[in-house]
Amino acid sequence: MWLKSLTVANTLTGAALASPAFLQRRQSDLGAFIEKESILAQQGILNNIGAEGALVQGASAGIVVASPSKTNPDYFYTWTRDAGLTMLAEIEQLAAGTANASLESLIQEYVDSQVKQQVVANPSGTLSNGSGLGEPKFQVNITAFTGSWGRPQRDGPALRASALIAYGNYLIAHGKTSLAKTNLWPLIQNDLSYVGQYWNQSTYDLWEEVNGSSFFTTAMQHKSLVEGAAFAAAVGETCPGCSVAPQILCHLQEYWNGSAIISNSPTNDRSGIDANSVIASIHIFDPAATCDDVTFQPCSARALSNHKVYVDSFRSIYTVNQGRSNGQAVAVGRYPEDVYQGGNPWYLATLAAAEQLYDALHQWDKQGSINITQLSIPFFSDLVSNATIGTHAKSSATYTAITQAVKTYADGFVSVVQEYTPSDGGLAEQFGRSTGDPVSAIDLTWSYAAFLTAVARRNGTVPASWGSPTVTSVPGQCSAATVAGSYATPTIGAW
Ligand SMILES: *[C@@H]1O[C@H](CO)[C@@H](O)[C@H](O)[C@H]1NC(C)=O
Ligand SMILES: *[C@@H]1O[C@H](CO)[C@@H](O)[C@H](O)[C@H]1NC(C)=O
Ligand SMILES: *[C@@H]1O[C@H](CO)[C@@H](O)[C@H](O)[C@H]1NC(C)=O
Ligand SMILES: *[C@@H]1O[C@H](CO)[C@@H](O)[C@H](O)[C@H]1NC(C)=O
Ligand SMILES: *[C@@H]1O[C@H](CO)[C@@H](O)[C@H](O)[C@H]1NC(C)=O
Ligand SMILES: *[C@@H]1O[C@H](CO)[C@@H](O)[C@H](O)[C@H]1NC(C)=O
Ligand SMILES: *[C@@H]1O[C@H](CO)[C@@H](O)[C@H](O)[C@H]1NC(C)=O
Ligand SMILES: *[C@@H]1O[C@H](CO)[C@@H](O)[C@H](O)[C@H]1NC(C)=O
Ligand SMILES: *[C@@H]1O[C@H](CO)[C@@H](O)[C@H](O)[C@H]1NC(C)=O
Repeated sequence: MWLKSLTVANTLTGAALASPAFLQRRQSDLGAFIEKESILAQQGILNNIGAEGALVQGASAGIVVASPSKTNPDYFYTWTRDAGLTMLAEIEQLAAGTANASLESLIQEYVDSQVKQQVVANPSGTLSNGSGLGEPKFQVNITAFTGSWGRPQRDGPALRASALIAYGNYLIAHGKTSLAKTNLWPLIQNDLSYVGQYWNQSTYDLWEEVNGSSFFTTAMQHKSLVEGAAFAAAVGETCPGCSVAPQILCHLQEYWNGSAIISNSPTNDRSGIDANSVIASIHIFDPAATCDDVTFQPCSARALSNHKVYVDSFRSIYTVNQGRSNGQAVAVGRYPEDVYQGGNPWYLATLAAAEQLYDALHQWDKQGSINITQLSIPFFSDLVSNATIGTHAKSSATYTAITQAVKTYADGFVSVVQEYTPSDGGLAEQFGRSTGDPVSAIDLTWSYAAFLTAVARRNGTVPASWGSPTVTSVPGQCSAATVAGSYATPTIGAW
């Protein structure tokens, strides 16, 4: 995130080089780490949500604060994106039956907080024509942040819609369709209206740095409209804006360059290789989908080719990656050209690299085979040197060898996180590219959420389908069609 708030410091300068022995620290049993860190990560999230969160005094009920850090950097705000992603992770736990019983009331407080947040006039605009929904961040007491910032950020409404739809589908599955309609649909309708109306306008990306088009934003927008159309029907409503989903999918194809996803347009003189793409892939993961290139499913040849290009771009630039060769997991960051806070590996990026592979393992298992193509063979060859192009059935020795190697590779990324997690289990935003020590905001809510979703996939817990299998084709010609939205003031409903 958040170049705006920072002083750029280069931690490379004067940093001690890590010795190989130092690099091997804290490599104890991964399973034990996961067990312990799962509890700490969940508590880490709860600590950052108002009004009871231990580290965020002053935050309103249900407000997800990005980090308790108030200086260098000051992240003591609520971002619509971070909150949506975090609450989606929590709602998935509720739906999977792995949650603490008290979690549902917190989710309801989040819903109520968004009723208040949607109507706050802010520098991006107001609710009356939807423009205010694109505001990236608010004060923790749900008032506007009026300083200069990279705005608007058009992924926020889509991510909030996805979180609310996940909770709505949970309610429907538990016979509470009318509650989903009265308490959630008005909020969801505003957010889906926003996506349908504004998807084709420039946005700041998820790192708040590039104004243009962002793969992550486009992917989240597409997903929200596909699941939004189904949700509208389930509560007896309609979503006119959802009709532009095929146009957004068409735009999504424009980021593909033949071997990698170029995450930003314009690239602002960067390669365009960016965690943006891998984080998108894990959030458009659909356990009911095949290895579909068009939606960049985690097991698709495109997403695997992109994973290799992305991961390899960090192998030689971080000292902490010394001694780890191709096919071995490494620490990864936002993008190789990053300089923010020294330009370091990020916990949430390294966890996303693992999560994409756990997702792919789930998809191969479900479809009963792995299809290696010209495009994906460089990814597989790093892991299994004699891998061959073709379809390898689940019953084959090759399938077993490949899936074992991918699992080991995925676990390797979690082991890297283990290695650079301090003994108290706290997950900051970054860890030093030379020292491996925590850098930037402490207790980053998104870092904890990233840990929980990666480990949930490793544990075999997957989200509900968002309807990706219903997406069967891309329009032959892309269009910039949009639908004017309708926006109405939501009200807090009784639970
Ligand atoms: C994953 O499974 C381990 C072992 O059962 C468990 O301790 C941990 O809480 C689980 N974590 C998540 C996030 O599901
Ligand atoms: C459930 O959540 C509540 C509130 O966050 C907490 O006090 C309690 O310890 C949790 N219980 C378990 C078993 O995790
Ligand atoms: C939305 O309303 C704001 C005033 O709140 C105005 O500045 C802006 O131009 C309007 N945008 C559109 C797309 O109508
Ligand atoms: C909300 O928080 C901001 C930032 O801390 C503060 O300036 C403002 O006075 C608060 N507003 C209310 C209504 O509490
Ligand atoms: C608008 O849509 C067209 C057609 O897909 C695309 O080429 C263009 O990049 C889009 N612009 C933005 C800002 O989304
Ligand atoms: C972002 O780019 C668009 C298209 O070039 C431009 O209209 C808009 O003013 C830019 N926004 C900012 C904040 O610079
Ligand atoms: C796509 O981008 C990658 C990474 O920058 C680059 O290595 C590759 O040459 C590009 N491919 C094409 C066809 O431009
Ligand atoms: C495997 O992928 C290739 C290339 O996309 C395709 O032509 C072939 O039909 C696929 N095979 C199976 C069994 O899916
Ligand atoms: C690849 O090599 C392994 C031994 O390293 C062997 O077990 C496996 O059968 C080989 N697979 C193929 C497709 O040749």
